[in-house]
Amino acid sequence: MTDSAIATPKKKETILSGMQPTGSLHIGNLEGALKNWIRLQDDYWMFCCIVDWHALTASWKDTKELKNRVFEMAVDWLASGLDPDKCAIFIQSEVKEHAELHLLFSMLITVPTLTRLPTYAEKKESLDSYGFLGYPVLQAADICLYNANKVPVGKDQEKHIWLAKDIAQRFNTTYRKVFVEPEALFTTIPLILGADKRKMSKSYDNHIPLEYTEKQTEKRLRTYFTDPDKLRQGDPGRPEICPVYLLHQIYSPDHAEAIAPPCRTGELGCVDCKMKLAANLNAALAPIRDRRADLVKHPDTVWDVLTTGAERARNRAQNVMDKVRSAMKMAYRKSKK
Ligand code: TRP
Repeated sequence: MTDSAIATPKKKETILSGMQPTGSLHIGNLEGALKNWIRLQDDYWMFCCIVDWHALTASWKDTKELKNRVFEMAVDWLASGLDPDKCAIFIQSEVKEHAELHLLFSMLITVPTLTRLPTYAEKKESLDSYGFLGYPVLQAADICLYNANKVPVGKDQEKHIWLAKDIAQRFNTTYRKVFVEPEALFTTIPLILGADKRKMSKSYDNHIPLEYTEKQTEKRLRTYFTDPDKLRQGDPGRPEICPVYLLHQIYSPDHAEAIAPPCRTGELGCVDCKMKLAANLNAALAPIRDRRADLVKHPDTVWDVLTTGAERARNRAQNVMDKVRSAMKMAYRKSKK
């Protein structure tokens, strides 16, 4: 399989994006990352990587859920509209070159640089493995292995992309220019809050999974935090502090404007407002849920996508690794020089 399978004439630059396999996704993942990837897949060579080795840094002891989490996440990627004809969708551990480049990159970075990174410093009391320290080096390898120009990430990943760029530069100056210097692609992400008004996250159990039924979605919305001063029907509310109103702005763009005034006057109660949102959210998610149900019934289709994706990714990765080995004078058999 060659890269041409995922190329169109207008594609020039490469994007690598990665996500840890957390299992099935929620609307925060959909709005925060996936929709952005889906928009990008038409214009870039796109490599979408399920980073299972990164997931091991936190959950190496208990791996029995890993396969299921990889599968569920792949299902949600496909159901949401990532198209295997437009991008390579694959599992990191199925392209061994990630491990090889990680090892070579580990020579180009000092331990203090890694221990200073906030992502390490914040967790080092509970997570002090050699593997966790190297997390950003593995991430740099993920990115550089495809010579990605751009990496769509959230602001929390800014330092990791900076590190990838730094390692790429070091390699280029130490040996010879092999790598492009990757840049982060920050996009404006709509703020999605969970039922308890914190960031939506599976670990807080405040989320709305894509796989929820319409009834489960309604039920979760009923538990949503709103304006704490709007207790009874008729009380005036403040849409600007309400997480339900934030969701209306995404899922009810036509009605969001119409909802604010009656909320402020107290005419519109929270339950009615939530049920309007439930109807719109369920309508928006219906096609994703239908595709999801279908994919779950045909697991082989999903595994086949991941196999083909790994072949495409490996193709590009091997090409870059050949250049890396020859720049380092480690292409022992090929070159007579
Ligand atoms: N560290 C990223 C996160 O937690 C996941 C990740 C691993 C990644 N490798 C990557 C993201 C490469 C972008 C590119 O979100």
